[in-house]
Amino acid sequence: MDGNGRWANNRNKPRHSGHRAGVKSVRTSVETAAQRGVEFLTLFAFSSENWSRPKEEVSSLMNLFVEALRREVDELHRNNVRLKFVGALDELNTGLKNKIAQSEQRTANNTGLRLTVAIAFGGRWDIIQASKALARRVLDGSLQVEDIDDAEFAAGLQMSNMPDPDLLIRTGGEQRISNFMLWNLAYAELWFTDVLWPEFDEAVFDEALCFYAGKQRRFGHTGDQVETVGC
Ligand code: IPE
Ligand code: MG
Repeated sequence: MDGNGRWANNRNKPRHSGHRAGVKSVRTSVETAAQRGVEFLTLFAFSSENWSRPKEEVSSLMNLFVEALRREVDELHRNNVRLKFVGALDELNTGLKNKIAQSEQRTANNTGLRLTVAIAFGGRWDIIQASKALARRVLDGSLQVEDIDDAEFAAGLQMSNMPDPDLLIRTGGEQRISNFMLWNLAYAELWFTDVLWPEFDEAVFDEALCFYAGKQRRFGHTGDQVETVGC
């Protein structure tokens, strides 16, 4: 979800007003995902590297996360959305941690859209914490080094109970992964748009889904072995 700061700059507003405007796009993207039958939606809200921003911006973002949860969770719950957070959550302040735990518990039995928010998350951090989990299992004798494979490794990642993403959408014009889910994105289709996050709406989401629908997903196979659905 990139481009909040530039959206605000373009309007001579402070950066935090861009982040506030971005909450509306979060709501739209969740509603659109649910309507279109997307089963898993994961939003990259705050990266490991975002801690290096000016401390006023970091704290206004943390306050915004608490406020957004306070305002939105009822509606998410009514819409049967199951909410989960991934990332180094122990780095967050107690107020936010509590709000996260409450929101996860409240929506835990919902059966609709699986909405995951990555916060204080980094792809490298995730790989390192999964590696530590493997190392501990080897040390305590419950895992042999020879038995380490894709599945054993992925079991220690934050998204262990979810399928790999099919489609990555990045707004804000940059064409890079910026330390998002490095392991999980191995076969994802990548879609980039110049649209800034506060302007992300249903039509832009549909454009991305249409791009995805037109892709032939070969996973190493030849074109004759797979089919393309189309938009
Ligand atoms: C993304 O928007 C939101 C967060 C990282 C929380 P940015 O804040 O990165 O916006 P730009 O890139 O400065 O426009
Ligand atoms: Mg940015």
